[in-house]
Amino acid sequence: MPLKFLNLLLFFLLLHHHHHHQTSADVGTAAYYGPPYLPTVCYGDDPSQFPADNIFAAAGDGIWDNGACCGRQYLVRCLSSSPESCIADQTIRVEVINQASMLDSNPSLNGTTMTLSDAAFLQIANKSSPVINIEFTQI
Ligand SMILES: *[C@@H]1O[C@H](CO)[C@@H](O)[C@H](O)[C@H]1NC(C)=O
Ligand SMILES: *[C@@H]1O[C@H](CO)[C@@H](O)[C@H](O)[C@H]1NC(C)=O
Repeated sequence: MPLKFLNLLLFFLLLHHHHHHQTSADVGTAAYYGPPYLPTVCYGDDPSQFPADNIFAAAGDGIWDNGACCGRQYLVRCLSSSPESCIADQTIRVEVINQASMLDSNPSLNGTTMTLSDAAFLQIANKSSPVINIEFTQI
């Protein structure tokens, strides 16, 4: 019994630690998509939630978190792609406004970690590849 309790305690401590220190970066993939950007799963038909510069993202299943991902912000950097399309030393900050599987326009690839708006994608890569490998950090 005491051992089980300690394990449980350790588990919650680790969980706590994880949730409060989200500075470590993850790797994944990103595609891009264009208009129409409305409606969104997060905000319906309300365009007032859009970042003014159109730098936003739709969350793939891996980070969607049952909708809790709406409004989350990520720093995203292009790591590599084939053919090479990354713009060197560029990091963008995107806000999640939609669910990637529910987009009204077709993304350049289905099933990526996140799908970036055209404007967001073009800040870190040109469109010579439909998908890029990314490093991303929730902020
Ligand atoms: C995209 O960027 C890569 C790497 O900088 C470059 O080699 C390639 O020519 C670019 N492609 C287009 C279509 O601009
Ligand atoms: C993504 O999935 C949609 C819906 O199934 C499909 O119409 C579209 O062709 C797919 N896009 C790509 C790039 O495979």
